[in-house]
Amino acid sequence: MPLPFRLPAAPRALSYSAATWLVTATLGQWAFVAFILAFHLPPTLQGDFLALNNKPHITGWVPGDWLGSGQLLAHVFVAAAVTFAGIIQLVPSVRQRWPALHRWNGRLFMVTALVATLTGFYLTWIRGSQLGTGSTVSISLNGALILIFVGLAWRSALARDFVTHRRHALRAWLLVNGVWFLRIGIMLAGLALAPLGVEMSYDGGVFVGVSFLSWLLPLGMVELYFRAERSGSSRVQYAVAGLLMVMALMTLAGSLAAAVFMWWPRL
Ligand code: HEM
Repeated sequence: MPLPFRLPAAPRALSYSAATWLVTATLGQWAFVAFILAFHLPPTLQGDFLALNNKPHITGWVPGDWLGSGQLLAHVFVAAAVTFAGIIQLVPSVRQRWPALHRWNGRLFMVTALVATLTGFYLTWIRGSQLGTGSTVSISLNGALILIFVGLAWRSALARDFVTHRRHALRAWLLVNGVWFLRIGIMLAGLALAPLGVEMSYDGGVFVGVSFLSWLLPLGMVELYFRAERSGSSRVQYAVAGLLMVMALMTLAGSLAAAVFMWWPRL
């Protein structure tokens, strides 16, 4: 039976679906940035640091521990900056019309990604803020891969090898957003499992599984996308485009759930 609408050509379907996913990711990431700033900025400006503990943390603000508490504060603000800067790098019209903005924002993204990761390592391994063994291994691998791909993206940009740069920069960006993917993944898992009466614990299989998937799945998905771009097969391109549309729906649903159940009630 013929379809009631005309499908766009396969390469176009692929880029439309990637753009659709990017729009859903932008909404979700900006909601995350808005939450980080709305929760942390007012008490920080007022010097009321104990108010930072008004929501659950692993360790949180500890009076007297200036080094650890200061790194936590630096970590969250740099996290907001890197999440905001990252998405701007992906907008094609910004890259084409304002290449200088792309270069400077790219440097900001890479430096903030490094600072967020190094302060994250300090909090996890020196301060001892850990949720459980599995999730600690996962976030540490995620952090190590951020350092590697930020380095590779930077090196290929300096070498003006922009094909390689695009691939490594996209991997770095997805890895930097591992913590955001984790939040929307936990929300989706919670929504799917709650009706079955399954409860999640930080050491349980679901939480640890979602932790690893929060960076492995986006990395796998972007490799499929690169292959589909190179492939001459319309079938492969339509299949990956379809998968990206499913991811867009899941991203939207997970982001909405995180905003409604996780972020908004804490403000
Ligand atoms: C580079 C991307 C990263 C971003 C955007 C990011 C973002 C955040 C945010 C927003 C928080 C505050 C969470 C909250 O209170 O709800 C946080 C906390 C934390 N992050 Fe990260 N993070 C990143 C990387 C890392 C890495 C690579 C590690 C570990 C190697 C890490 C370890 C931690 C720890 C341990 C805390 C909890 C501190 C506490 O509650 O006492 N982060 N992160």
